[in-house]
Amino acid sequence: MKFASHVEEIDISGIRKSFEGAGPGAINLGLGQPDFDTPDHIKQAAIEAIEEGFTGYTMNLGIPELRAALSEKLRLENGLDYAPAEIMVTSGASEALFLAIASVVEEGDEVLMGDPGFVSYAALTRVSQGRPVSVPMDERFHLTAEAVAERVTPRTRALIVNSPNNPTGSVQTREELRALAELAEDHGFALISDEVYEQFIYEGEHASPALYSENVITINAVSKTYAMTGWRLGYLAARGEALENMLKVHQYVQACASSISQRAALAAVSGPQDCVRMMREEFRRRRDVLVEGLRRMGAEMDVPAGAFYAFPKVGDGDAVSARLIKAGVVAVPGSAFGSAARDHIRISYAASMADIRTALERMREIL
Ligand SMILES: Cc1ncc(COP(=O)(O)O)c(C=O)c1O
Repeated sequence: MKFASHVEEIDISGIRKSFEGAGPGAINLGLGQPDFDTPDHIKQAAIEAIEEGFTGYTMNLGIPELRAALSEKLRLENGLDYAPAEIMVTSGASEALFLAIASVVEEGDEVLMGDPGFVSYAALTRVSQGRPVSVPMDERFHLTAEAVAERVTPRTRALIVNSPNNPTGSVQTREELRALAELAEDHGFALISDEVYEQFIYEGEHASPALYSENVITINAVSKTYAMTGWRLGYLAARGEALENMLKVHQYVQACASSISQRAALAAVSGPQDCVRMMREEFRRRRDVLVEGLRRMGAEMDVPAGAFYAFPKVGDGDAVSARLIKAGVVAVPGSAFGSAARDHIRISYAASMADIRTALERMREIL
Protein backbone atom coordinates (compact mmCIF):
# COMPACT_ATOMS: atom_id res chain seq x y z
CA MET A 1 0.00 0.00 0.00
CA LYS A 2 1.02 3.60 -0.46
CA PHE A 3 0.16 6.10 2.24
CA ALA A 4 -0.63 9.80 2.10
CA SER A 5 2.60 11.64 2.84
CA HIS A 6 0.83 14.37 4.82
CA VAL A 7 -0.48 11.67 7.17
CA GLU A 8 2.76 9.70 7.33
CA GLU A 9 4.55 12.85 8.45
CA ILE A 10 2.38 13.21 11.57
CA ASP A 11 4.20 12.19 14.74
CA ILE A 12 2.75 9.80 17.29
CA SER A 13 1.64 11.99 20.22
CA GLY A 14 4.48 13.01 22.52
CA ILE A 15 2.12 12.35 25.41
CA ARG A 16 1.87 8.66 24.48
CA LYS A 17 5.65 8.49 24.15
CA SER A 18 6.14 9.85 27.64
CA PHE A 19 4.45 6.76 29.15
CA GLU A 20 6.95 4.40 27.54
CA GLY A 21 9.39 2.96 30.04
CA ALA A 22 7.20 3.62 33.09
CA GLY A 23 7.54 0.79 35.63
CA PRO A 24 4.59 -0.89 37.40
CA GLY A 25 4.79 1.31 40.53
CA ALA A 26 4.99 4.56 38.58
CA ILE A 27 2.63 7.42 39.46
CA ASN A 28 1.06 8.70 36.30
CA LEU A 29 0.85 12.49 36.28
CA GLY A 30 0.84 12.49 32.49
CA LEU A 31 -2.86 11.97 31.91
CA GLY A 32 -5.28 14.62 30.71
CA GLN A 33 -8.42 13.31 32.32
CA PRO A 34 -10.12 13.63 35.70
CA ASP A 35 -9.36 10.70 37.99
CA PHE A 36 -12.97 10.79 39.26
CA ASP A 37 -15.66 8.35 38.20
CA THR A 38 -18.63 9.56 36.13
CA PRO A 39 -21.37 10.61 38.62
CA ASP A 40 -24.06 7.99 39.28
CA HIS A 41 -27.07 9.91 37.99
CA ILE A 42 -25.30 10.23 34.62
CA LYS A 43 -24.49 6.51 34.48
CA GLN A 44 -28.12 5.73 35.37
CA ALA A 45 -29.39 7.79 32.43
CA ALA A 46 -27.20 5.73 30.09
CA ILE A 47 -28.37 2.45 31.64
CA GLU A 48 -31.98 3.54 31.16
CA ALA A 49 -31.28 4.45 27.52
CA ILE A 50 -29.91 0.96 26.89
CA GLU A 51 -32.77 -0.74 28.71
CA GLU A 52 -35.34 1.31 26.78
CA GLY A 53 -33.69 0.23 23.55
CA PHE A 54 -32.53 3.76 22.73
CA THR A 55 -29.71 2.23 20.74
CA GLY A 56 -30.20 3.33 17.15
CA TYR A 57 -28.87 6.21 15.09
CA THR A 58 -30.04 9.64 16.17
CA MET A 59 -30.42 12.82 14.11
CA ASN A 60 -27.06 13.81 12.67
CA LEU A 61 -27.01 16.99 14.76
CA GLY A 62 -27.84 15.06 17.92
CA ILE A 63 -31.02 14.48 19.92
CA PRO A 64 -33.21 17.61 20.17
CA GLU A 65 -33.51 17.41 24.00
CA LEU A 66 -29.73 17.52 24.40
CA ARG A 67 -29.34 20.38 21.93
CA ALA A 68 -32.07 22.30 23.75
CA ALA A 69 -30.26 21.72 27.06
CA LEU A 70 -26.95 22.85 25.52
CA SER A 71 -28.62 25.94 24.05
CA GLU A 72 -29.83 26.78 27.56
CA LYS A 73 -26.39 26.07 29.04
CA LEU A 74 -24.70 28.37 26.51
CA ARG A 75 -27.23 31.10 27.29
CA LEU A 76 -27.04 30.88 31.09
CA GLU A 77 -23.34 30.13 31.60
CA ASN A 78 -21.76 31.81 28.60
CA GLY A 79 -24.21 34.56 27.67
CA LEU A 80 -24.36 33.12 24.12
CA ASP A 81 -27.51 32.97 22.05
CA TYR A 82 -27.46 29.75 19.99
CA ALA A 83 -30.67 28.04 18.91
CA PRO A 84 -30.71 24.22 19.19
CA ALA A 85 -30.45 24.17 15.37
CA GLU A 86 -27.07 25.92 15.65
CA ILE A 87 -25.61 23.23 17.90
CA MET A 88 -24.11 19.91 16.82
CA VAL A 89 -23.34 17.01 19.13
CA THR A 90 -20.07 15.28 18.26
CA SER A 91 -17.88 12.39 19.33
CA GLY A 92 -15.90 14.36 21.87
CA ALA A 93 -14.33 17.76 21.42
CA SER A 94 -11.80 15.93 19.23
CA GLU A 95 -14.32 15.33 16.46
CA ALA A 96 -15.58 18.90 16.74
CA LEU A 97 -12.01 20.19 16.31
CA PHE A 98 -11.57 17.98 13.27
CA LEU A 99 -14.83 19.22 11.71
CA ALA A 100 -13.98 22.86 12.34
CA ILE A 101 -10.53 22.57 10.80
CA ALA A 102 -11.59 20.31 7.90
CA SER A 103 -14.38 22.69 6.91
CA VAL A 104 -12.18 25.78 6.55
CA VAL A 105 -8.75 24.48 5.46
CA GLU A 106 -7.61 23.69 1.92
CA GLU A 107 -4.16 22.44 0.93
CA GLY A 108 -1.52 24.94 2.03
CA ASP A 109 -3.88 27.07 4.15
CA GLU A 110 -2.61 28.25 7.50
CA VAL A 111 -4.01 27.66 10.97
CA LEU A 112 -2.66 29.81 13.79
CA MET A 113 -2.21 28.23 17.22
CA GLY A 114 -0.43 29.05 20.46
CA ASP A 115 2.93 27.41 21.18
CA PRO A 116 2.90 25.57 23.56
CA GLY A 117 -0.52 24.12 22.74
CA PHE A 118 -2.70 21.01 22.77
CA VAL A 119 -1.19 18.26 20.60
CA SER A 120 -4.21 17.72 18.33
CA TYR A 121 -4.31 21.16 16.74
CA ALA A 122 -1.23 20.80 14.55
CA ALA A 123 -1.93 17.15 13.71
CA LEU A 124 -5.54 17.84 12.66
CA THR A 125 -4.38 20.75 10.54
CA ARG A 126 -1.95 18.40 8.77
CA VAL A 127 -4.70 15.83 8.18
CA SER A 128 -6.52 18.58 6.26
CA GLN A 129 -3.30 19.33 4.33
CA GLY A 130 -3.06 22.69 6.05
CA ARG A 131 -0.02 24.29 7.61
CA PRO A 132 0.08 24.78 11.40
CA VAL A 133 1.57 28.18 12.26
CA SER A 134 2.87 28.53 15.81
CA VAL A 135 2.29 31.75 17.68
CA PRO A 136 4.51 32.20 20.72
CA MET A 137 2.60 32.87 23.94
CA ASP A 138 3.74 35.74 26.18
CA GLU A 139 5.75 35.13 29.36
CA ARG A 140 2.55 34.25 31.29
CA PHE A 141 1.46 31.87 28.52
CA HIS A 142 -1.27 34.15 27.25
CA LEU A 143 -1.97 34.45 23.52
CA THR A 144 -1.98 38.12 22.54
CA ALA A 145 -3.70 39.69 19.53
CA GLU A 146 -0.40 41.45 18.70
CA ALA A 147 1.51 38.17 18.43
CA VAL A 148 -1.28 36.64 16.34
CA ALA A 149 -1.59 39.69 14.06
CA GLU A 150 2.10 39.46 13.14
CA ARG A 151 1.52 36.00 11.69
CA VAL A 152 -1.68 36.60 9.74
CA THR A 153 -1.24 36.13 5.96
CA PRO A 154 -3.66 35.88 3.03
CA ARG A 155 -3.60 32.08 3.61
CA THR A 156 -4.78 32.29 7.24
CA ARG A 157 -8.06 30.40 7.61
CA ALA A 158 -8.34 29.86 11.35
CA LEU A 159 -6.98 30.70 14.78
CA ILE A 160 -7.38 28.17 17.58
CA VAL A 161 -7.81 29.57 21.09
CA ASN A 162 -7.78 27.35 24.16
CA SER A 163 -8.64 28.96 27.48
CA PRO A 164 -8.23 27.55 30.13
CA ASN A 165 -5.16 26.18 28.45
CA ASN A 166 -3.64 22.76 28.04
CA PRO A 167 -0.71 22.42 28.82
CA THR A 168 -0.01 25.66 30.69
CA GLY A 169 -3.10 26.13 32.86
CA SER A 170 -3.28 29.81 31.85
CA VAL A 171 -6.66 31.58 31.58
CA GLN A 172 -7.02 34.38 29.03
CA THR A 173 -8.71 37.59 30.15
CA ARG A 174 -11.99 38.73 28.65
CA GLU A 175 -10.22 41.66 26.98
CA GLU A 176 -7.60 39.41 25.40
CA LEU A 177 -10.32 37.15 24.04
CA ARG A 178 -12.27 40.10 22.70
CA ALA A 179 -9.15 41.36 20.87
CA LEU A 180 -8.56 37.92 19.33
CA ALA A 181 -12.20 37.65 18.22
CA GLU A 182 -12.05 41.10 16.65
CA LEU A 183 -8.89 40.16 14.80
CA ALA A 184 -10.61 37.08 13.34
CA GLU A 185 -13.57 39.24 12.33
CA ASP A 186 -11.39 41.95 10.73
CA HIS A 187 -9.39 39.45 8.67
CA GLY A 188 -12.29 37.12 7.88
CA PHE A 189 -10.92 33.90 9.34
CA ALA A 190 -12.48 31.48 11.82
CA LEU A 191 -11.74 31.56 15.52
CA ILE A 192 -12.02 28.02 16.86
CA SER A 193 -12.52 28.30 20.62
CA ASP A 194 -11.73 25.13 22.56
CA GLU A 195 -13.40 25.57 25.94
CA VAL A 196 -13.21 22.04 27.35
CA TYR A 197 -11.62 23.21 30.63
CA GLU A 198 -14.15 26.01 31.12
CA GLN A 199 -15.39 24.70 34.48
CA PHE A 200 -11.92 24.37 35.95
CA ILE A 201 -10.94 27.95 36.72
CA TYR A 202 -9.59 28.82 40.18
CA GLU A 203 -8.78 32.49 39.65
CA GLY A 204 -10.33 34.74 37.04
CA GLU A 205 -13.39 34.05 34.91
CA HIS A 206 -14.27 32.24 31.74
CA ALA A 207 -15.31 34.26 28.71
CA SER A 208 -16.40 32.89 25.34
CA PRO A 209 -14.92 34.65 22.29
CA ALA A 210 -18.25 34.08 20.51
CA LEU A 211 -19.57 36.99 22.56
CA TYR A 212 -17.48 39.25 20.32
CA SER A 213 -17.66 37.80 16.80
CA GLU A 214 -19.92 35.70 14.60
CA ASN A 215 -16.80 34.07 13.11
CA VAL A 216 -16.34 31.91 16.17
CA ILE A 217 -16.87 28.15 16.36
CA THR A 218 -17.35 27.30 20.04
CA ILE A 219 -16.25 23.81 21.03
CA ASN A 220 -16.87 22.09 24.33
CA ALA A 221 -17.47 18.60 25.72
CA VAL A 222 -18.77 16.76 28.75
CA SER A 223 -15.45 14.87 28.79
CA LYS A 224 -13.55 16.87 31.41
CA THR A 225 -16.44 18.68 33.09
CA TYR A 226 -18.26 15.53 34.20
CA ALA A 227 -15.39 13.01 34.21
CA MET A 228 -16.71 11.42 31.00
CA THR A 229 -13.67 11.17 28.71
CA GLY A 230 -14.51 7.61 27.63
CA TRP A 231 -18.11 8.45 26.68
CA ARG A 232 -16.85 10.44 23.67
CA LEU A 233 -19.36 13.24 23.78
CA GLY A 234 -18.68 16.82 22.73
CA TYR A 235 -20.46 19.60 20.92
CA LEU A 236 -19.98 22.73 18.87
CA ALA A 237 -21.99 25.87 18.24
CA ALA A 238 -21.72 27.91 15.06
CA ARG A 239 -23.80 30.03 12.72
CA GLY A 240 -25.43 29.22 9.36
CA GLU A 241 -22.99 28.17 6.67
CA ALA A 242 -20.28 27.26 9.16
CA LEU A 243 -22.57 24.75 10.86
CA GLU A 244 -23.87 23.43 7.52
CA ASN A 245 -20.39 22.70 6.23
CA MET A 246 -19.32 20.97 9.41
CA LEU A 247 -22.52 18.93 9.31
CA LYS A 248 -21.59 17.65 5.83
CA VAL A 249 -18.32 16.24 7.17
CA HIS A 250 -19.93 14.93 10.38
CA GLN A 251 -22.64 13.06 8.43
CA TYR A 252 -20.05 11.04 6.60
CA VAL A 253 -17.35 10.50 9.20
CA GLN A 254 -19.53 9.93 12.23
CA ALA A 255 -23.26 9.96 11.32
CA CYS A 256 -24.11 10.82 14.92
CA ALA A 257 -22.62 10.71 18.40
CA SER A 258 -23.44 7.62 20.50
CA SER A 259 -27.17 7.59 21.34
CA ILE A 260 -26.42 6.27 24.82
CA SER A 261 -23.79 8.89 25.54
CA GLN A 262 -26.17 11.58 24.35
CA ARG A 263 -28.71 10.51 26.98
CA ALA A 264 -25.95 10.51 29.59
CA ALA A 265 -24.85 13.99 28.50
CA LEU A 266 -28.44 15.21 28.77
CA ALA A 267 -28.50 14.06 32.41
CA ALA A 268 -25.10 15.71 32.96
CA VAL A 269 -25.98 19.09 31.48
CA SER A 270 -29.52 19.38 32.82
CA GLY A 271 -28.97 17.66 36.19
CA PRO A 272 -27.40 18.86 39.47
CA GLN A 273 -24.03 20.56 39.07
CA ASP A 274 -22.61 19.91 42.54
CA CYS A 275 -20.41 17.13 41.12
CA VAL A 276 -18.63 19.77 39.03
CA ARG A 277 -18.18 22.07 42.03
CA MET A 278 -16.79 19.16 44.05
CA MET A 279 -14.23 18.33 41.38
CA ARG A 280 -13.24 21.97 40.98
CA GLU A 281 -12.63 22.38 44.71
CA GLU A 282 -10.66 19.14 44.87
CA PHE A 283 -8.52 20.15 41.89
CA ARG A 284 -7.85 23.50 43.53
CA ARG A 285 -6.60 21.81 46.73
CA ARG A 286 -4.35 19.50 44.77
CA ARG A 287 -3.03 22.33 42.65
CA ASP A 288 -2.05 24.29 45.74
CA VAL A 289 -0.19 21.32 47.25
CA LEU A 290 1.58 20.53 43.98
CA VAL A 291 2.59 24.10 43.19
CA GLU A 292 3.84 24.76 46.69
CA GLY A 293 5.85 21.52 46.63
CA LEU A 294 7.37 22.33 43.25
CA ARG A 295 8.25 25.87 44.26
CA ARG A 296 9.94 24.61 47.42
CA MET A 297 12.18 22.56 45.16
CA GLY A 298 13.05 25.73 43.29
CA ALA A 299 10.91 25.15 40.17
CA GLU A 300 9.99 28.43 38.47
CA MET A 301 6.30 28.82 37.76
CA ASP A 302 3.22 31.02 37.99
CA VAL A 303 0.28 29.49 39.81
CA PRO A 304 -1.83 28.04 36.98
CA ALA A 305 -5.28 29.66 37.10
CA GLY A 306 -7.18 26.89 35.32
CA ALA A 307 -7.37 23.36 33.83
CA PHE A 308 -5.58 20.68 35.87
CA TYR A 309 -1.96 21.05 34.84
CA ALA A 310 1.14 22.60 36.37
CA PHE A 311 3.78 23.64 33.85
CA PRO A 312 7.01 24.40 35.69
CA LYS A 313 10.27 25.44 34.08
CA VAL A 314 12.79 22.74 34.89
CA GLY A 315 15.73 23.08 32.47
CA ASP A 316 15.78 20.42 29.75
CA GLY A 317 12.20 19.08 29.86
CA ASP A 318 13.01 15.92 27.88
CA ALA A 319 15.93 14.97 30.13
CA VAL A 320 14.01 15.79 33.31
CA SER A 321 10.95 13.76 32.32
CA ALA A 322 13.19 10.80 31.38
CA ARG A 323 14.79 10.95 34.84
CA LEU A 324 11.39 11.31 36.50
CA ILE A 325 10.19 8.12 34.80
CA LYS A 326 13.17 6.26 36.26
CA ALA A 327 12.21 7.65 39.67
CA GLY A 328 8.62 6.44 39.20
CA VAL A 329 6.78 9.60 38.09
CA VAL A 330 5.29 10.14 34.64
CA ALA A 331 5.16 13.77 33.45
CA VAL A 332 5.04 15.04 29.87
CA PRO A 333 7.98 17.04 28.45
CA GLY A 334 7.14 20.52 27.14
CA SER A 335 8.48 19.45 23.73
CA ALA A 336 5.29 17.39 23.24
CA PHE A 337 3.35 20.65 22.95
CA GLY A 338 5.49 22.54 20.41
CA SER A 339 8.95 24.02 20.36
CA ALA A 340 8.55 27.09 22.58
CA ALA A 341 8.47 25.34 25.96
CA ARG A 342 11.16 22.65 25.79
CA ASP A 343 12.42 23.71 29.19
CA HIS A 344 9.10 22.90 30.88
CA ILE A 345 7.25 19.75 31.88
CA ARG A 346 3.50 19.26 32.23
CA ILE A 347 2.38 17.68 35.48
CA SER A 348 -1.30 16.76 35.71
CA TYR A 349 -2.91 17.07 39.12
CA ALA A 350 -5.90 14.97 38.10
CA ALA A 351 -4.52 12.34 40.50
CA SER A 352 -5.19 11.58 44.15
CA MET A 353 -3.67 13.79 46.85
CA ALA A 354 -1.74 10.74 48.14
CA ASP A 355 -0.23 10.18 44.67
CA ILE A 356 0.64 13.86 44.35
CA ARG A 357 2.44 13.83 47.70
CA THR A 358 4.35 10.64 46.87
CA ALA A 359 5.25 12.01 43.45
CA LEU A 360 6.58 15.21 45.07
CA GLU A 361 8.83 13.07 47.30
CA ARG A 362 10.14 11.23 44.27
CA MET A 363 10.64 14.44 42.31
CA ARG A 364 12.61 16.18 45.03
CA GLU A 365 15.99 14.71 44.17
CA ILE A 366 15.60 15.27 40.46
CA LEU A 367 14.23 18.80 40.51
C1 LIG B 1 -7.56 21.29 25.09
C2 LIG B 1 -8.22 20.02 24.76
N1 LIG B 1 -9.14 20.00 23.78
C3 LIG B 1 -9.78 18.87 23.43
C4 LIG B 1 -9.51 17.68 24.06
C5 LIG B 1 -10.21 16.43 23.60
O1 LIG B 1 -11.42 16.31 24.27
P1 LIG B 1 -12.39 15.06 24.01
O2 LIG B 1 -11.95 13.96 24.90
O3 LIG B 1 -13.75 15.57 24.36
O4 LIG B 1 -12.28 14.68 22.58
C6 LIG B 1 -8.55 17.63 25.08
C7 LIG B 1 -8.21 16.35 25.73
O5 LIG B 1 -7.21 16.21 26.37
C8 LIG B 1 -7.90 18.84 25.45
O6 LIG B 1 -6.98 18.86 26.41
